[in-house]
Amino acid sequence: MQHVSFSSFCFFFFFFLFFFIFLLTPNDEVSATSTLSVDIINKTCKTCSDRSSVVNYTFCSASLQEIPVSHVTNLQGLAIVAMELALQNATNTLSIIKELVNNETLGPSSLACLSDCSLLYSDGVVTLVDTVGAFLTGQYGNADAWVSAVMQGTATCEEGFQDMELVSPLTKENYSLFQLCDVLLCIMNLLDSDVKS
Ligand SMILES: *[C@@H]1O[C@H](CO)[C@@H](O)[C@H](O)[C@H]1NC(C)=O
Ligand SMILES: *[C@@H]1O[C@H](CO)[C@@H](O)[C@H](O)[C@H]1NC(C)=O
Ligand SMILES: *[C@@H]1O[C@H](CO)[C@@H](O)[C@H](O)[C@H]1NC(C)=O
Ligand SMILES: *[C@@H]1O[C@H](CO)[C@@H](O)[C@H](O)[C@H]1NC(C)=O
Ligand SMILES: *[C@@H]1O[C@H](CO)[C@@H](O)[C@H](O)[C@H]1NC(C)=O
Repeated sequence: MQHVSFSSFCFFFFFFLFFFIFLLTPNDEVSATSTLSVDIINKTCKTCSDRSSVVNYTFCSASLQEIPVSHVTNLQGLAIVAMELALQNATNTLSIIKELVNNETLGPSSLACLSDCSLLYSDGVVTLVDTVGAFLTGQYGNADAWVSAVMQGTATCEEGFQDMELVSPLTKENYSLFQLCDVLLCIMNLLDSDVKS
């Protein structure tokens, strides 16, 4: 456990490095204004909520705007933002799980479920870091499969509680990470169809 979270943090900072390098690339249009950024965010969220029965437009638009967006002028940049949000979300969820596990009022079944969820979200963090690597090298197929695996992980965590007839304390966390991943899948599919057309 200790080992996993330490390496996760290494990956996390490594990812931030990529993020800033990406945002500072001179490819970004100098004339970009934040209105343009909000515009591309809203348009993308509209497209994605039309295409996916999971994506919630309001959540999508509010989430993507949480990160300073003045440099986001294209779908690639937006995909990076979504990946960063997903990575932050999964990492924060790990801390939430750690706090929950320390709660002495929890029974053994809840603790067992939380322990599974901790592994699932740790794997999710590592998988999301791999996704960034795959994305930056244009391997959209792999990136796609890995994001889906992360979504399967959050669903498996929830199902663990359901199977035990327990109320999951991580429903909100599943909701956010699942949404962010589905938005990411949608953006990657849009990029992929751009490349092919
Ligand atoms: C984008 O969407 C948000 C939330 O739905 C809305 O408040 C904002 O006015 C929209 N901005 C633009 C430029 O469309
Ligand atoms: C969509 O997300 C917003 C904000 O996160 C929330 O208030 C709303 O209830 C959600 N809608 C659905 C259908 O889940
Ligand atoms: C996950 O992301 C959503 C949207 O960006 C945010 O509202 C929520 O607080 C985040 N949750 C965690 C645990 O980081
Ligand atoms: C432990 O969990 C209970 C029930 O969910 C909650 O009321 C209590 O505040 C928690 N205690 C701590 C120390 O987090
Ligand atoms: C996880 O959250 C998503 C919404 O983002 C929802 O569609 C899905 O049903 C949730 N999974 C479980 C197992 O509750």
